[in-house]
Amino acid sequence: MPDSRVPRRRRFLVCEPRHFAVQYAINPWMHPDTEVDVDLAHEQWQRLIRAYEAHGHGVDIVEPVPGLPDMVFAANSAVVVDGRVFGSLFHAPERRPESTHYATWFKAAGYDVHRPASVCEGEGDLVWTGRYMLAGTGFRTTREAHREVQEYFGHPVISLTLVDPYFYHLDTALFVLDSGDDGHHGNIVYYPEAFSSGSREVLARLYPDAVLATRDDAMSFGLNSVSDGRHVFIAPRAEALATRLADRGYVPVPVDLSEFQKAGGGIKCCTQEIRS
Ligand code: ARG
Repeated sequence: MPDSRVPRRRRFLVCEPRHFAVQYAINPWMHPDTEVDVDLAHEQWQRLIRAYEAHGHGVDIVEPVPGLPDMVFAANSAVVVDGRVFGSLFHAPERRPESTHYATWFKAAGYDVHRPASVCEGEGDLVWTGRYMLAGTGFRTTREAHREVQEYFGHPVISLTLVDPYFYHLDTALFVLDSGDDGHHGNIVYYPEAFSSGSREVLARLYPDAVLATRDDAMSFGLNSVSDGRHVFIAPRAEALATRLADRGYVPVPVDLSEFQKAGGGIKCCTQEIRS
């Protein structure tokens, strides 16, 4: 069984944490008086990039902009499927300028960028499963944006309501283990209590074999992981979840981003996938 898991090569977009800091509080993890160890943050981030490269993934880097401390959370700036870029419109005024800088990067890389009309925080709330777009709402991305995403991509969008402020983005409560396609659903890991009861039922119907995570797994940022179908880049404190994934034949690759958790972000938040 363990060797039946086949990795798929990914292309990731990331942003160097040169200006990373906790200067404002827009989620329960953030406290504006928190000291960030900038050197440690930089080291941790570099270890993540090296881990991706060591496992064969491509990494593109966006130049950070002074005064935008959360710009390191690349996942929030867009979602890219079929080579089409759906940009972002941030809920917090402090983060709004980030969208333009990412759009500029995409344009320079040869992509057209659709700028959404309502609040939409990219892959933070939009999780592409290979078949559906799972779409979070409740704290940031709006239902209007979900409709816009469906019109834009022409893929089914499944709206899910988040109910716990600690898990304010969908990618803090759920990640894709295996991408599906027209033939199979793939599989996910999620923390059920982060969702409204109706949304929990939807997830249970779509993914009867999903791995269910505990609150401890979620509070350790274990749901903010990146999987290539075999290797799961995961926070080391989410040990219990990593062990269960290993039992299912996945290979956990622990990467510690503790400095970024002070801003409410982890591995997935720092990683956007470019799907061409
Ligand atoms: N401080 C950032 C915010 O609250 C963290 C974003 C984390 N990103 C993510 N994809 N969950 O917006």
